[in-house]
Amino acid sequence: MSKITIAIDGYSSTGKSTIARQLAETLGYIYVDSGAMYRALTLYALRAELIQNDVLDKEKLIQSLPSIFLQFTFNPKKGYAEVYLNNKNVEGDIRKLEVSKYVSRVAEIPEVRRKLVAIQQEMGKNKGVVMDGRDIGTVVFPEADLKLFLTAAPDKRATRRYKELLERGDEVTFEEVLENVEFRDHIDSTRAVSPLKKAEDAIVIDNTDMGLKEQFERVLNIANRVINQKKKDA
Ligand code: DC
Repeated sequence: MSKITIAIDGYSSTGKSTIARQLAETLGYIYVDSGAMYRALTLYALRAELIQNDVLDKEKLIQSLPSIFLQFTFNPKKGYAEVYLNNKNVEGDIRKLEVSKYVSRVAEIPEVRRKLVAIQQEMGKNKGVVMDGRDIGTVVFPEADLKLFLTAAPDKRATRRYKELLERGDEVTFEEVLENVEFRDHIDSTRAVSPLKKAEDAIVIDNTDMGLKEQFERVLNIANRVINQKKKDA
């Protein structure tokens, strides 16, 4: 078996999912966007009115966890799997700034992480998976064959995310987006449980001044090297 596990972590809006999708498609691997799962739970909390006046009712959310069903279904038109919350496709809704505002709060709840990490480990148990997130190389798959850690200057990341949101028709300002990117980086890196941090054996990719094509070629080369080594070792 020469299929490997690829863990991609890094700061918000560093293009983790773009690179993960490209890699999965090229290698014929499964792509899992773990952030989509935290976002879907946040959407649940918003819809169930567990977030009111900026306050999240953590206890109620924890109590609701057993009745929240998350699933990914491949969309052939888009070429990747979309996330479903209790059997409804929520891929569009989870990308809204409203969800981005609260997702780090939801993601710092230990019970939430326990539930989602277990699902993620199950999805990756047969290898041949590319998963992106914040704790994939450190907690979900500490034994991953290849770990990448993506970073880029905050204003560059906010500019990319801002354009994406505008293209989707969301009414946001650049300042709001930048503030959210910096806020999430802060919470994600300083939370008590599974904070965002580079795994010791992760390869850092700073894409502040790197084009998508160049980045993909570089990462694919690295992945192929690891896969070939694994074949030799087998
Ligand atoms: O990758 P993203 O920006 O869509 O993720 C949304 C949030 O979910 C992010 O701010 C932190 C949280 N997250 C996490 O805590 N652990 C992960 N493995 C993935 C995401």
